[in-house]
Amino acid sequence: MAKTTAHYVCQECGADYPQWSGRCEACGAWNSISEEAPRDSVPLGAGKARKGRSKEHVEFLQLDGPAAELPRRVTGITELDRVCGGGMVPGSALLVGGDPGIGKSTLLLQALCAIGGKAACVYISGEESVEQVRMRAGRLGLAEAPVRLAAATNIRTILDSLETDRKADGAEVLVIDSIQTMYMDALDAAPGTVTQVRACAGELVRFAKRHGITVFLVGHVTKEGQIAGPRVVEHMVDTVLYFESKRGHQFRILRAVKNRYGPTDEIGVFEMSDAGLREVTNPSSLFLADQPEDVQGAVVFAGIEGTRPLLVEIQALVAPSVLGSPRRAVVGWDSGRLAMTLAVLEARCGLALGAQDVYLNVAGGLRITEPAADLAVAAAIVSSLTGEPLPHNTVVFGEVGLSGEVRGVGQRQARLKEAAKLGFARALTPRQTAEAEKHRKPSLEILEIGHLQDLLAHFATAAHITAEHTSQEDPLAPTHGRRH
Ligand code: TYD
Ligand code: MG
Repeated sequence: MAKTTAHYVCQECGADYPQWSGRCEACGAWNSISEEAPRDSVPLGAGKARKGRSKEHVEFLQLDGPAAELPRRVTGITELDRVCGGGMVPGSALLVGGDPGIGKSTLLLQALCAIGGKAACVYISGEESVEQVRMRAGRLGLAEAPVRLAAATNIRTILDSLETDRKADGAEVLVIDSIQTMYMDALDAAPGTVTQVRACAGELVRFAKRHGITVFLVGHVTKEGQIAGPRVVEHMVDTVLYFESKRGHQFRILRAVKNRYGPTDEIGVFEMSDAGLREVTNPSSLFLADQPEDVQGAVVFAGIEGTRPLLVEIQALVAPSVLGSPRRAVVGWDSGRLAMTLAVLEARCGLALGAQDVYLNVAGGLRITEPAADLAVAAAIVSSLTGEPLPHNTVVFGEVGLSGEVRGVGQRQARLKEAAKLGFARALTPRQTAEAEKHRKPSLEILEIGHLQDLLAHFATAAHITAEHTSQEDPLAPTHGRRH
């Protein structure tokens, strides 16, 4: 083989350098340059440079043609199957990322055991010894499951053994726990470096495609440092799932952020118990704090996570600030969106929030990304500011625009249905636009909100709001911003 030299690549922007330096000249990132293996020795299918024309020919096809329904391997753990898009596709690679200790190994061991009777399963542990994995299986009551187990980290040895095995009974589902402990001895870099992680993942993905095996790669989310996080392999795999939770909470959320074989933004909810992860089939009840009736500053938002409606409680606390610049703290929502909602409440409704600390919390540790939560956040803030709770048994959803208008959001019926199912009687919603929607008979009382000012009217004493909580000198008097 021709002699080749290593080269150095910025992990932020991909710029290529012949030697290492502390700062990338292309993107300005510090400490982002690391060594990549010599191009010709990287076993990433780079292929040798060829002379002349290739003898192989690529066949070009039309877009319309037979597309077979994808076969799926179903674990029977519905929360996991749904996040995967209805089961795992043979020949696909799935990355399961998450903080250490969140339950990735537990989840995958449970998944393997659940599918064990229907497909040949192999669990490769690079982090724990065989005894540790056995102990966990025993604790989960799954020690009898037909799963083959090995503690190994050399990717070549692992794949060679699996290849030999194929002639006997093969492997159909493979778990690699974790990708950061795997290494390829052809490379100089230490296990866990970007080079090793990428090369090992590439090799595993190709192995999966070649043999129609479903491969799960476990990846620890790491603080910047010596160990490469799961992000560096996200583009190589078909599906990326993140397992997350809030500190101190028992439940875990599995979220699909990329899926070539199904929808993203789907979530699966689990609870960590002393006998492993338990599915939570009705997550709305989990995210609704056990609240006594009519609490000020607490509003129930009818949201959608993926394809599933989910009710969550949004809590706001507005209190006079003792600081020069008031505090705004947000847990579970976007702080930029909170700033916008506060600005709209001030400018369009004349509420004086400038000298108030505002704290916003999404109960149960959920993270909401939908703009449809705007109206619920606004309602929680107004409720806390005025000390007036929203009428009991009310759900809220709607997006708020900069002029204070409330816009329609998707999946209105699904939100209302979920709220009705959980016993809510009233919903504050955007105006209905579609004709068809108007003729449907929802089972709750619908109060349409066209503008944030209409929202204020739903707090018991609207007059009391304007007198006490608006700045009198404000040129935008309460009725000023109104559209009609
Ligand atoms: P683990 O699956 O090892 O996490 P990861 O692979 O993501 O690092 O889970 C570790 C945590 O889960 C550990 O703190 C103990 C807890 N746990 C339970 O509470 N109950 C159980 O039945 C199991 C197996 C683990
Ligand atoms: Mg683990």
